[in-house]
Amino acid sequence: MKFQRSPLGTEAWDANLYDNKHGFVAKYGEDVMGWLAPQKGEHILDVGCGTGTLTHKIAESGAIVTGIDASPEMIAKAKQAYGELEFLVKDAGNFTFISKFDATFSNATLHWIKDQQNVLQSVYDSLKDGGRFVYEMGAKHNIENIHEAIKKALNEEGFELNSNIQVNYFSSAGEQATMLENVGFTVSNIIQFDRPTELVGEDGMKNWIVQFCQAFFKFIPSEKIEIIIDKAVTTLRETNYKNGKWYGDYKRLRVKAVKA
Ligand code: BEZ
Repeated sequence: MKFQRSPLGTEAWDANLYDNKHGFVAKYGEDVMGWLAPQKGEHILDVGCGTGTLTHKIAESGAIVTGIDASPEMIAKAKQAYGELEFLVKDAGNFTFISKFDATFSNATLHWIKDQQNVLQSVYDSLKDGGRFVYEMGAKHNIENIHEAIKKALNEEGFELNSNIQVNYFSSAGEQATMLENVGFTVSNIIQFDRPTELVGEDGMKNWIVQFCQAFFKFIPSEKIEIIIDKAVTTLRETNYKNGKWYGDYKRLRVKAVKA
């Protein structure tokens, strides 16, 4: 997989790479759905629905589901696959709905949003009283080896400014609980755990970086990006490659909170 810059240097998501190589995101998300326990007839919002795989799974319970995602590429693919469901391009960092939901679900999305308080407020405001918010996101120190290896390679190649870009926000359970309570939620369950995640194939780590780390490479020429990624992958072989397989050093935060 060669690094390909998105059109106009945007951080557009490659929806095909996401489904073909990173389907584990949705697969692990099925565990989170256990905490949601969707019921027939409930109105449920899926925040950061990507290509719609989990939105569709939630809908199989008989719930009426709306999926939102900031990426037009992801929403286009979701609509193509599950035309019967409602999908909207909306920024998870700041959204409003006129009618309220019984529950909101989110998997592997909140760590992309810098203003956490804002997203929690948007979710709170779009829930009915008694509504629940069930989500999983990267916990503190999530994929730290990978980000550190990229920053080291960026520095070595003379791109110090890029190495200071904050790409994600990873929260501790304590921080997240405080923010939830600040907007009015009651936290009913919160857990933090390690989840080393296999990245399939000999190019697994490189594919992962190409998909998820574009923000580090703004304004860097493509041929340099190739060199930086290769350097990072070489560093990561020490820590994230075991018995012939690549692993992402994922750490998760799983939460259920209720609008009291
Ligand atoms: C995550 O799911 O934890 C994640 C995925 C890609 C980039 C950053 C975090």
